[in-house]
Amino acid sequence: MYTQSLILDRKSGDAAELEDPERLAHFQRRIDEERKIEPNDWMPGAYRQTLVRQISQHAHSEIIGMQPEGNWLTRAPSLRRKLQLLAKIQDEAGHGLYLYSAAETLGVSREELVDQLLAGRAKYSSIFNYPTLTWADIGMIGWLVDGAAIMNQIPLCRCSYGPYARAMILVCKEESFHQRQGFDIVRTLCAGTPAQRAMAQDALERWWWPCLMMFGPHDRDSEHSDLSMRWKIKRFSNDDLRRKFVDATVPQARFLGLDIPDPELRFDAIEGHWVTGPIDWDEFFAVIQGNGPCNRERLAARRGAHEQGRWVREAASAYAARHAAAAAAAAAAAA
Ligand SMILES: [Fe+2]
Ligand SMILES: [Fe+2]
Repeated sequence: MYTQSLILDRKSGDAAELEDPERLAHFQRRIDEERKIEPNDWMPGAYRQTLVRQISQHAHSEIIGMQPEGNWLTRAPSLRRKLQLLAKIQDEAGHGLYLYSAAETLGVSREELVDQLLAGRAKYSSIFNYPTLTWADIGMIGWLVDGAAIMNQIPLCRCSYGPYARAMILVCKEESFHQRQGFDIVRTLCAGTPAQRAMAQDALERWWWPCLMMFGPHDRDSEHSDLSMRWKIKRFSNDDLRRKFVDATVPQARFLGLDIPDPELRFDAIEGHWVTGPIDWDEFFAVIQGNGPCNRERLAARRGAHEQGRWVREAASAYAARHAAAAAAAAAAAA
């Protein structure tokens, strides 16, 4: 999902009021008519700011999200599983790069965004600050984390900002493969030995609640979400998306013979939805503020990787500069 911090700050919400009312009305009309906003179109500052924040957080999440899975690449239980996992992690890198490019269409540079992440000033999805302790966790990430991401990202395919909406179409297709490979891992474990089933159950118990937190705070606590809805960046509220996820996932868990770790979980026959017990928001905010089980480890690994890639960036810049100089010299000689 990776876009849980859709909460605008007070400043950007107010900024909308400062824009030219006529332009704002035209902009809103265009959105109401379901016409896409493109990079060169006029847009309110707060719309741009919201999208930069959301798309960059999404990109960061894809990139950081490679780490918990990368942890199991060398220990995948078979060659087939290793190939699938490798392909999935490569997809996530692609999503990250694609999304940085989408953010760049809003006038911010990738370097700036990466610097914000490395300096600890940017957020990414809380879910990637949890450890992957067993192979079953890799199944849970695909089944539940990518499953939650799909719930959130399918509506983003209709986001009012063209480049983001188009990026989401490709991303969602790949997420759907990720979800299935995760479910397949869990299904295999659940059809295996008692020890394998216990491993799957243990992983579900550790991932279930953090996955529900991925959708962000309850609607009543999620201020400014209204503006995102009005601008059709967001189409469904956090609680609606969470409910869809729970409704889709509970029957799958039952099919697998796994117990959802929530004694208060019940089916509301009148509403036609599953209802969960209370979510521990203290845990969510602790993780978001940098105090989850792996926050420091994740950022340290990213900083290390960035540092190790320095020579590649320098070589690419030197190569580009040499080519530009040669092209300029050839043009001067031809003139
Ligand atoms: Fe992804
Ligand atoms: Fe994914």
